[in-house]
Amino acid sequence: MRLQGKKAFITGGNSGIGFATAKLFVEEGAEVFITGRNQETLDEAVKLLGANAHGFRADVTDSAARKQVFKQIADQFGRLDVVFANAGIGGNTPAGTTTEELFEQIISTNLTSVFFTVQDSLPYLNEGASIILNGSVIGTLGQPAYAAYAASKAGLRALARSLAADLSPRSIRVNVVAPGATKTPIWGRNGRTQEQLNGLEQQLSKLIPLGRMGEAEEIAKAVLFLASDDSSYVQAVELFVDGGFTGTPFGGAAGRL
Ligand SMILES: NC(=O)c1ccc[n+]([C@@H]2O[C@H](COP(=O)([O-])OP(=O)(O)OC[C@H]3O[C@@H](n4cnc5c(N)ncnc54)[C@H](OP(=O)(O)O)[C@@H]3O)[C@@H](O)[C@H]2O)c1
Repeated sequence: MRLQGKKAFITGGNSGIGFATAKLFVEEGAEVFITGRNQETLDEAVKLLGANAHGFRADVTDSAARKQVFKQIADQFGRLDVVFANAGIGGNTPAGTTTEELFEQIISTNLTSVFFTVQDSLPYLNEGASIILNGSVIGTLGQPAYAAYAASKAGLRALARSLAADLSPRSIRVNVVAPGATKTPIWGRNGRTQEQLNGLEQQLSKLIPLGRMGEAEEIAKAVLFLASDDSSYVQAVELFVDGGFTGTPFGGAAGRL
């Protein structure tokens, strides 16, 4: 039980990687507090996670809602040991036709809100707490039509390094988990059909050295490592969990020329 007696806060804990992480954290003895915007999936997630999970409807871009949730958790349950700033969105922003509104929405959700989630959590964190930000391989690799998302995730790496400097005096660790293509609902959120999703998975699998997309549970295990004392001397790193995609981009079937 690597998180016995610990309290963990996860944004976007009602879906995908956030949910898989909440589930693993509960199995490892933690009490978890998850947020999301969708009340229905939030309720469903809390039901599946059991008595040691609590759901709070809050948009990460809403400053008042963020502050209220942290206060409510602290008043009812006490201080936190882990913050996983996981909530994020994709979005196509090709050079030439992108609106400022969409660009700002992606940066606001994936980057600005992450900084302020961390900042708002600070009064309620125990000494030695662990903060994990959910980055992406796209923060390092260029991808067509993904400039805003890429900038937001590259920004998280820089954010984590500066936050780690700010928070080291409190022995608070700040690290980034950077997933590669992982099977979660995010891929279908722009209206792709199941057939299109299957085709995409096949194509991606040829590019990835380990020959397949990742599972949300595999990312969760890396987050558990960063959240627990197993990583007690790990500070300000970006941990890629991507089947080798970033380290060896020609390692997949399609790259063996
Ligand atoms: N799946 C991948 O291939 C992959 C790869 C690299 C990085 N990531 C990153 O992993 C993180 C989780 O994504 P996922 O793949 O698990 O996708 P997902 O299943 O779509 O989950 C996204 C989560 O973020 C929440 N969220 C989005 N906007 C929010 C907002 N404004 N306020 C509060 N919650 C919000 C969603 O909650 P609601 O539904 O309630 O809005 C949902 O719980 C993201 O940061 C994503 O960029 C994913």
